[in-house]
Amino acid sequence: MLSEAQIAIIKATAPVVGAHARDITEHFYPLMFSRYPAVKAYFNQTHQQQGSQRQALANALVAYATHIDKLEALGDAVSLIAHKHCSLNILPEHYPIVGECLMEAIGAVLGDAVTPEIADAWGTAYQQLADILIGVEEQIYQNHSERRGGWRGERQFRIREITAESDVIGSFYLEPCDGEQVIDFLPGQYVGLLLTIDGQSVRRNYSLSNAPGKKWLRISVKREDDGLVSGYLHQHARVGDVVTLTAPCGDFVLDTSSSAPRRPLVLVTGGVGITPAMSMLDSCVASGRPIVFVHAAINSSHHAFASHVEQLAAQHDNLRSVVIYEKPLPGDQPDAVGFINTHLLAELLPEDRNVDLYFLGPKPFMACVNQIAGDLQIPAEQRHYEFFGPAAELSVQEAEGAIA
Ligand SMILES: Cc1cc2nc3c(=O)[nH]c(=O)nc-3n(C[C@H](O)[C@H](O)[C@H](O)COP(=O)(O)OP(=O)(O)OC[C@H]3O[C@@H](n4cnc5c(N)ncnc54)[C@H](O)[C@@H]3O)c2cc1C
Ligand code: HEM
Repeated sequence: MLSEAQIAIIKATAPVVGAHARDITEHFYPLMFSRYPAVKAYFNQTHQQQGSQRQALANALVAYATHIDKLEALGDAVSLIAHKHCSLNILPEHYPIVGECLMEAIGAVLGDAVTPEIADAWGTAYQQLADILIGVEEQIYQNHSERRGGWRGERQFRIREITAESDVIGSFYLEPCDGEQVIDFLPGQYVGLLLTIDGQSVRRNYSLSNAPGKKWLRISVKREDDGLVSGYLHQHARVGDVVTLTAPCGDFVLDTSSSAPRRPLVLVTGGVGITPAMSMLDSCVASGRPIVFVHAAINSSHHAFASHVEQLAAQHDNLRSVVIYEKPLPGDQPDAVGFINTHLLAELLPEDRNVDLYFLGPKPFMACVNQIAGDLQIPAEQRHYEFFGPAAELSVQEAEGAIA
């Protein structure tokens, strides 16, 4: 428990730690990976090289220190981190490792400025945050194991079918090797996929692209240029292969319960960001709820689930599908060409803008949609989004690059 004096120390030193947060995390990760090599396998090494994970950790620590006396201000951040951790099977015994290396990194970067009192206050603050996360994570793990068809930790699945959704996106249907039921997840959630590639254990997250209630789970994966896991799945994975999954996680979910609001639903996706939206769409299209489904792709060759969505729109009057192509191929007939813009979205929304908006895609696309949603005064609490990587700011600067 932090004392009043320690809280005062954290608040006073938070700006200094914040100013050096980048350097601290630059020092922290190599130290932790060299001292505890087994921990390295939990981290996406591409995120490490790109710096996005380091930035996310630095942001979280600064936000935490800044709000040390009013932790409720952290809002959804704790849940987001806890879900990500659970999807990677992070356990309580990992926390002392991070704590030790983080404290050492703070000491190495700030030097003599870190007095024993300051070190003590930060050590206690770390433990407090670790305890909060461990508690929330235990609740998630328990919920996974108690749900019908659920499991705790890792479970093996067999690939039962592989289908092409576009030239670059393939779906993998996964059924449990134990032949038991599959968990009733929430539309929008993602799993952790564990593979061993060239003797190296690697983990990635994939959104579930099917509606719950089936005997299998489906992930739909875009083949990234030189992507380690997506490349492996597209080139080497075969029907019958076994992969390991963690149970579905994440708060980017559509509430399909009978008590949920029935506001019109607007799903706006770019590229492979379509995957969780497919689960949402399939889960609620038959409910009669008005749905606008906007999808932006480069052109028809990159457009996944096109005929499925088209078929649903033909069968359900409550669904309006709008397709935007950036660079149409000859013969393509999208509803719009170029990029998503305010005018296009405004025309699709009801006058009062009282909708639930879910959006996902490349970061500049998301920044753009978020900006448009602001311009159209869609209430912030009715806007939902997620990143296919560590969380980041949706800056206006990036949005400018995506508005034609
Ligand atoms: C919650 C969540 C849900 C997700 N859902 C999906 C989904 O439904 N479908 C999906 O396809 N993906 C999804 N992802 C993304 C997925 O987890 C992987 O990140 C993605 O498949 C790429 O992994 P990879 O191993 O193939 O590529 P990586 O090897 O990680 O590389 C990714 C890209 O970065 C490039 N790269 C590698 N190293 C560097 C470097 N040092 N500097 C610059 N560039 C570099 C690579 O060439 C490649 O193009 C999701 C991610 C999250 C967090
Ligand atoms: C108080 C302690 C911790 C804090 C504040 C913290 C914070 C974070 C944050 C902010 C993210 C990014 C979430 C996102 O936007 O995707 C993250 C991801 C992650 N964390 Fe933690 N974390 C802590 C402890 C740990 C521990 C103990 C481990 C285990 C070794 C761990 C392993 C991971 C991994 C593997 C990821 C995903 C990395 C990736 O995508 O490359 N974290 N954490």
